[in-house]
Amino acid sequence: MKVAIVYFSLTGNTEKAAIEIENQLEKKNIQVSRIKLEGNFGTFLTNSFKALFRIKAKTEQLQWDMKEFDFIIVGSPVWAFSPTPQINTFLKKCIGLEGKNGAIFVTYGSGTGKGRALRIMKKELLLKGLKEIYSFSLSDKIISGDADKLNKKVEFILASSPISYKTSEVKNE
Ligand SMILES: Cc1cc2nc3c(=O)[nH]c(=O)nc-3n(C[C@H](O)[C@H](O)[C@H](O)COP(=O)(O)O)c2cc1C
Repeated sequence: MKVAIVYFSLTGNTEKAAIEIENQLEKKNIQVSRIKLEGNFGTFLTNSFKALFRIKAKTEQLQWDMKEFDFIIVGSPVWAFSPTPQINTFLKKCIGLEGKNGAIFVTYGSGTGKGRALRIMKKELLLKGLKEIYSFSLSDKIISGDADKLNKKVEFILASSPISYKTSEVKNE
């Protein structure tokens, strides 16, 4: 049973969330690969502009092959009510998702546009053949605050999401 957590993070919040998710899944004996997307970025304004207009970040990588994974989690910061350009690129170039289950999450500041960003990510992943997609979001205040609170929050999210039973379902096959 293998889970991929694919994410982008500019200032560390999404990465911290991804690491917390990874740690908690590993405690359940689930094998996790954490894949951080790299990419060029500019100022707050240019980043927001590119995200809003769904521009893809440039990369030499031709595709991301997810065949070896049973469950795919994709995490993005919200930039201008949207996923980031690096996530846009991944969503277009990933392959090997057909028939699998997955989850998406965003980390956010004010919270404006977090639902929109999740909807965009979900739509792209459904086009790639993911069957069921569980969505959740984490505020940057929770992430940069008390470590125990973040731990409990992620524990709650994972327990109340299909991640637990979908992953154990695959494990038992
Ligand atoms: C360019 C830019 C645009 C942002 N736009 C939004 C937004 O539209 N809505 C929101 O709630 N937060 C917004 N934020 C806040 C980030 O989503 C939030 O701080 C996030 O946790 C950053 O993740 P990171 O540390 O992994 O890069 C924006 C941040 C940046 C840098």
